[in-house]
Amino acid sequence: MKNLIKSFLYFGIVAFVVSCSSGGGEENESGENTTATSDDSYKPTATTTKDIGVGPVKHVDLGPIDANKAAIGKELFEAKCTSCHKWSTEKYVGPGLVGVTKRREPEWIMNQIMVPDKMTAEDPIAKELLATYLTQMTNQNITEEQARNILEYFRQQDAATN
Ligand code: HEC
Repeated sequence: MKNLIKSFLYFGIVAFVVSCSSGGGEENESGENTTATSDDSYKPTATTTKDIGVGPVKHVDLGPIDANKAAIGKELFEAKCTSCHKWSTEKYVGPGLVGVTKRREPEWIMNQIMVPDKMTAEDPIAKELLATYLTQMTNQNITEEQARNILEYFRQQDAATN
């Protein structure tokens, strides 16, 4: 009788140990999976921190450079912007604009062109530029289409300066 109890106890302990260690294995596996998923979901959040500025433009689709748009943009730029900007690295009333499409998001550039007053009031980068240049860029009621053409001219210029 004692032997029977002993062997029951023995099997009980073995079964307990086996179930614990196999259970532990599963937990480890699912633990690793959970870590992997949280890593994956973290990455997209990190890449969505584009600085698009503040204003009407939330998203711009860029294709290959459109020479017609760029030509209209060039005319607009020469008529409305060259009193304060040079297409060079040289500071004038405002920043030299060479490389601007490399340092800013396209949406940011269009918002700066359309609502520069809102940008210097609310966007951290534009605020800093105002503090550096000590002049407020004029709001000339540029339309979204005009701003898009100017952006295309900048893209064409930056592609050529490379
Ligand atoms: C009265 C002078 C003035 C005029 C006119 C002007 N700007 Fe500006 N621009 C500035 C100043 C000054 C800044 C820096 C931000 C500020 O202080 O408003 C600036 C900033 C910018 C920036 C950001 C540059 C950077 O390095 O991020 C862009 C892009 C820009 N202007 C484009 C234009 C375009 C395009 C036009 C014509 C439609 C234009 N500007 C007309 C003075 C001017």
